[in-house]
Amino acid sequence: MIKAVRGFKDVLPEESIYWQFLEEKTKNLLKAFGFRELRIPVLEKLELFDRGIGSTTDIVEKEMYTFKDKGGELVAMRPEATASIARAYIEHALHLKDPLGKYFFIGPMFRYERPQAGRLRQFNQINIEVFGAKSPSLDAEIIALLHYISCDIGIEDGVTLEINHIGCKKCRPLYREILMNYLNLSKENLCDDCKRRLERNPLRILDCKKQNCKNISLNAPKIIDYLCEECKTYFDAVVDYLGVYKVPHIINPMIVRGLDYYTGIVFELITTELGAQGAVAAGGRYDHLVEELGGPRVAGIGFAIGEERAVEMIKKRKKLDLPSPFFFFALLGEEAKRRCIPIATDLRKSGIYTELEHEEKSLKSQMRKANKLKAKYAVIVGEDELRRGIAIVRDMKEKKQFEVSLKLESFLSLCQGGAE
Ligand code: HAM
Repeated sequence: MIKAVRGFKDVLPEESIYWQFLEEKTKNLLKAFGFRELRIPVLEKLELFDRGIGSTTDIVEKEMYTFKDKGGELVAMRPEATASIARAYIEHALHLKDPLGKYFFIGPMFRYERPQAGRLRQFNQINIEVFGAKSPSLDAEIIALLHYISCDIGIEDGVTLEINHIGCKKCRPLYREILMNYLNLSKENLCDDCKRRLERNPLRILDCKKQNCKNISLNAPKIIDYLCEECKTYFDAVVDYLGVYKVPHIINPMIVRGLDYYTGIVFELITTELGAQGAVAAGGRYDHLVEELGGPRVAGIGFAIGEERAVEMIKKRKKLDLPSPFFFFALLGEEAKRRCIPIATDLRKSGIYTELEHEEKSLKSQMRKANKLKAKYAVIVGEDELRRGIAIVRDMKEKKQFEVSLKLESFLSLCQGGAE
């Protein structure tokens, strides 16, 4: 038997309905906030992520699916969407069309991480990105949008919105020096990864999950105490607007994010319900990304929701069932089938979930099937019913039968007040 590749997962119908719930609820809200869908490809030139996400990040250093295609081009399967959406924004000169570009994209990302509960090699994200503006009220609005989504999907009781500000090109280098000096004192106790990070990307050490590194980070200088005046004022204004948007949140100075494009506000939606993989969503501001990828000087902010993790949380709170047929046509004989196919087709075209039996089966077996599918009505048609121009309709729950004339209208009127 050939099994799926490790870290790659099927989503079966019973689970798919939770994904549909998540995506439909989110899309409704996104529409109301003026977001439009921008679809990006799975493959990009490797260079995009190297430059966009940063060559010293874990993602680029060790987690990307990269290969040379048959033409010799070095490509990568997208490990995230922000760099790709920025690339599309530049390539199609969208800044000319949409001075404030608000885009969303839902799809799979690929990272060669060690698979575990809540961590896959192919995982799915709902990405939300805004290009072309920078303002504390906009930042608060985007963070609020994440909060409102968590409310609409019903997980707000299990998550905390944590925010931080990681400084700008002016104040971050200074903080980096101070942090590096502090971490150097405990260098010997850092894990091997963090020892390497010390020179190249010391902020990432604050995000390390190893206990020793965590202990060291706990007392590290906090970036929030080293922000320049401009960043400090901006951060305070965002926090203030979060009050206006009525978004419960906490400030967590340990949030640094694992991608290099972030500047300023960063945030994560955290839960304790999913074991080690606590981030359900994450994002922040990336004001230099578009320019660094060769585009115009355009600010940006966004976030991504990890769908697997959001779905896990929804499943803990909500029971969703696969839809059941409104009608199950239990048919006896060729002639009954021919008479009922057009009726069933018209019902289906009207959006009414209808099943009909294609195989020659006994009435008993067809009724068992109707029962198993939890059909509301079984419609029984055999030679006798055909002769009389009627169908026997059985209400499967009430266990009552009645006759209707064998016409579309009879079935449509049964749907009124109950059909989905
Ligand atoms: P990220 O923190 O790398 O950010 O990923 C965002 C979310 O994707 C995580 O919080 C988590 O829920 C989910 N996720 C990440 N890796 C995995 C995995 N291996 N398995 C399952 N779920 C995972 C980004 O990707 C940024 N592009 C977000 C962003 C958009 N920032 C600005 N705009």
